[in-house]
Amino acid sequence: MKNVGVVGGGLMGSGIAEVSARAGQDVVVVESGDEAAKAALGRLERSLQRAETKGKIESATAVLDRIRVVTDLDAMADREVVVEAIVEDEAAKVALFRSLDAIVEAPDAILASNTSSIPIMKLGVVTSRPTQVIGVHFFNPVPVLQLVELVPSLLTSAETTERSRAWVEGSLGKKAIDCQDRAGFVVNALLIPFILSAIRMYESGFASAEDIDRGLVLGAAHPQGPLALADLIGLDTTKAVAESLYEEFKEPLYAAPPLLQRMVDAGLLGRKTGRGFYTYG
Ligand SMILES: NC(=O)c1ccc[n+]([C@@H]2O[C@H](COP(=O)([O-])OP(=O)(O)OC[C@H]3O[C@@H](n4cnc5c(N)ncnc54)[C@H](O)[C@@H]3O)[C@@H](O)[C@H]2O)c1
Repeated sequence: MKNVGVVGGGLMGSGIAEVSARAGQDVVVVESGDEAAKAALGRLERSLQRAETKGKIESATAVLDRIRVVTDLDAMADREVVVEAIVEDEAAKVALFRSLDAIVEAPDAILASNTSSIPIMKLGVVTSRPTQVIGVHFFNPVPVLQLVELVPSLLTSAETTERSRAWVEGSLGKKAIDCQDRAGFVVNALLIPFILSAIRMYESGFASAEDIDRGLVLGAAHPQGPLALADLIGLDTTKAVAESLYEEFKEPLYAAPPLLQRMVDAGLLGRKTGRGFYTYG
């Protein structure tokens, strides 16, 4: 697969576009409007410039030449694989998969979602080709983290799973693990309750944010603590994933604590808004 489409050029979509273009593929990113498209392009330029400065790529310009950022979903028509990376909202994703099904022309094109928690089945069944709909879940930051979770629904064909594996491992140089179509897949089903426990510990006054994070970094060799990680993921995304896990399993450990809810209400979303459990410059 050489022609890649990415819908949504935010944190994850721009990362997926970057790793695809760095692997030599032709990439089209669709954003929701001119402002968002400009922001997506800016994000890509900054990230590729950093990669060039660090010597990870030869030329940021050469990689950027392989990426087009547009605002018309019709640009997905000739793509062989389309990865959806829009907001974590089931209604929005369902509507998008309906549209993609009507637009994408190749009969064997793969329609993938980067969703963290929405059942792949719900996206597959609104298309005429559920055998070609699969979860391809990248991790943040995409250019750095190696893992991709492959999430076939009950209707996804084995061929789609194997072609997706060949794309992420063979072309993009990632490592894939196989997961069932259950909220949270493998990593978030374990990680989110861990982060929620840290928020509850902080909320109860048991320890400071700094000490909770330092404890896990120095005592368990984690590269960063759970509260710093929540800020990196985005507290809105953390809350949305927790709610999907709670909805699926009805286990108290997945319930979003009140502090997380209030911080999201207040727009304290972590790094992306400059303040979460920590303040960023
Ligand atoms: N943030 C993470 O750490 C992380 C990790 C893995 C997976 N994910 C998942 O990836 C997806 C994207 O998350 P994100 O953190 O990049 O969000 P984000 O808010 O940074 O980006 C979403 C982008 O989608 C665009 N968008 C929204 N509706 C659109 C539409 N209809 N057409 C085109 N563009 C549209 C927005 O303008 C925005 O730029 C979500 O499903 C999320 O659950 C996130």
